[in-house]
Amino acid sequence: MYDNSVIEKTRQHVRDVLEGEGSGHDYWHIYRVWRMARHICQEEKADSYVVELAALLHDIADWKFHKGDLTVGPKIAKEYMEQLKVNKETINHVCEIIENCSYKGAGVTDNMRTAEGKIVQDADRLDAIGVIGIGRAFAYSGHKNMPMHDPEQKPTLHATKEAYFNSNSSTINHFHEKLLLLKDRMNTKTAKKIAEGRHAFMQEFLERFHKEWEGDE
Ligand code: ADP
Ligand code: NI
Repeated sequence: MYDNSVIEKTRQHVRDVLEGEGSGHDYWHIYRVWRMARHICQEEKADSYVVELAALLHDIADWKFHKGDLTVGPKIAKEYMEQLKVNKETINHVCEIIENCSYKGAGVTDNMRTAEGKIVQDADRLDAIGVIGIGRAFAYSGHKNMPMHDPEQKPTLHATKEAYFNSNSSTINHFHEKLLLLKDRMNTKTAKKIAEGRHAFMQEFLERFHKEWEGDE
């Protein structure tokens, strides 16, 4: 059963926890994913309580220390929801979504089981593409001291999540290793449609980027 006070408390909690996070998982990323998940949920049939809780809690693990460890987020989220006396079934469902949400490389298949999970995954991925996605990718590379572009370094289509999580090449390579692949990996009709415009903008951006790089425009 949808409980607005739990949603509002969770929103505040996540805001406190993620304050000042600099790797692209700040509160405003969560806010956008939550808003987008709500939007998609209005178009698709799903339990909005599970969708909103999972959207709010999907990046709750401290990314600086736990990148690549997919068990930490669900554990922290579970403890938090138990404190708020969220029902067990909802807790389990939300944790399953958090565990399976992230992108793990071009060659790694997604494994999201439920409609609610597919919506949250789409909302999270929509925030990685388009104008905001471009901004986040450059911000992330800056945070990691990675170059924005190195023409001598080719992109890699990672076959395992370990290879993907350990890689750090360049922002432009990241477009080819993740961002440009997301359009075709959207789960819901609503997200597929939104992804099209964002994808086209990224392609245009890259075209200009390479022209400016060579002094051609
Ligand atoms: P999400 O919140 O979508 O699960 P991630 O945790 O994978 O995203 O990364 C946070 C943000 O940083 C995303 O917008 C993502 O595209 C970007 N990012 C992740 N890895 C890289 C990278 N190697 N180079 C540039 N940007 C990256
Ligand atoms: Ni996220």
